[in-house]
Amino acid sequence: MKYLWFLLPFLLSANEDFISHYEYGEMLYQQPRGVSCAECHGKNGEGRIIVEFRDIHGKKVLRGPDIRKETLASMINSVNNYHKIMPRYYLTDEEVKAIYDYLQKKNSTYLAETNTTQ
Ligand code: HEC
Repeated sequence: MKYLWFLLPFLLSANEDFISHYEYGEMLYQQPRGVSCAECHGKNGEGRIIVEFRDIHGKKVLRGPDIRKETLASMINSVNNYHKIMPRYYLTDEEVKAIYDYLQKKNSTYLAETNTTQ
């Protein structure tokens, strides 16, 4: 705790003007003025189990889908619409694009490896 003040100048300069497009996208993915995308879509957009529960029909698994291969257009569409589980966000197209670019770059190896020529 004692040494945390060292971080202060970095935290204070962490506004939009001083960070890269990638960092901006990362920030938005994690804190998009609402529930973090990572809570449901995993650290890198790979998807994750949100909750597991049991009802009279047995075991149920609620899962956030893998969004690594989503197109920008479909991402803008998803973020701006109501869903059963996913909340609606009020992000500009530019902000969604930053999230999209962040996920593309973060997953570039995976995307290159799985991008089969059709
Ligand atoms: C509370 C959990 C939750 C959060 C938070 C969340 N999502 Fe989702 N997302 C889902 C679920 C579940 C779906 C599937 C549609 C549904 O049932 O809501 C989905 C669908 C999507 C889809 C369409 C993919 C598909 O296969 O249908 C995209 C793109 C997406 N989310 C992006 C995002 C982004 C970007 C954020 C952050 C700004 C975000 N989501 C935050 C749970 C979440």
